[in-house]
Amino acid sequence: MRPILRAEGLSKAFGRLLAVSGVNLEVAAGSIHAIIGPNGAGKSTLFDLLSGAKRPDRGRVYFLDKEITHIAVEERIRLGLSRTFQVPQVFTNLTARENLIIALEAAHSLSSYPWPRKSRFLEEEASALLERLGLEEQASRLVGELAHGDQRLVEIGLALCLRPKLLLLDEPTAGMSDAETWRTVQTLKSLHREEGLTLLFIEHDMAVVFGIADRVTVLHLGEVLAEGTPDEIAKDEKVQAAYLGEEVMAG
Ligand SMILES: Nc1ncnc2c1ncn2[C@@H]1O[C@H](COP(=O)(O)OP(=O)(O)O)[C@@H](O)[C@H]1O
Ligand SMILES: [Mg+2]
Repeated sequence: MRPILRAEGLSKAFGRLLAVSGVNLEVAAGSIHAIIGPNGAGKSTLFDLLSGAKRPDRGRVYFLDKEITHIAVEERIRLGLSRTFQVPQVFTNLTARENLIIALEAAHSLSSYPWPRKSRFLEEEASALLERLGLEEQASRLVGELAHGDQRLVEIGLALCLRPKLLLLDEPTAGMSDAETWRTVQTLKSLHREEGLTLLFIEHDMAVVFGIADRVTVLHLGEVLAEGTPDEIAKDEKVQAAYLGEEVMAG
């Protein structure tokens, strides 16, 4: 299938450390694609290069066949490429609903609308999103007081306000309980199924990877070590060797 995102020969060094090295990546439109790899493999740095938070030293990035290597984060978002972070970026002193309303207002640039109409529109959109994320009961609580998993879901909600075609998620289930992880996986699955959203996500929980990914790329020491279906990756000896000493491939 035609790739929605393509990276060619991406490299990024921090001083003498080559964090990302000659990475080629193709994400098929409509897929759920996981990036895995041991700590320090370069996964988050790769996301920074794809989302525009950092510029590569070498290589190119294409989104929907348009080269985006040097365009700003905001412009990438406008084209339909959004991301979430390893540490959720949310307004902790506002409620879940207020977080979404701010993002929706910004996303729709409604500043010239008459307030009553705008307000009703935003409230309805926010309610729909809260329902979609399973956050109805948390809607009026301060995000800083929510469970970690719910904060992550609010952050996913903020990204969804921008109506992305491709959503990059950096460890969406990190620090979640089993119940929160399961809920997040169900939410991501339904977004993929019902909204046709393509997902590229970094994940350390192999049960999540094998549960939802149709494609897996393994990074190791900044390079692509292997790429394939979850089954191919699970059997790959290079991958097993890279994870030696880590528990992640167990189970
Ligand atoms: N801003 C930075 N300055 C210096 N080194 C960094 C920076 N960001 C990441 N690194 C280093 O780059 C390597 C890859 O980091 P990262 O992309 O965060 O890996 P991962 O997300 O796979 O754990 C690590 O060795 C990390 O210490
Ligand atoms: Mg990381």
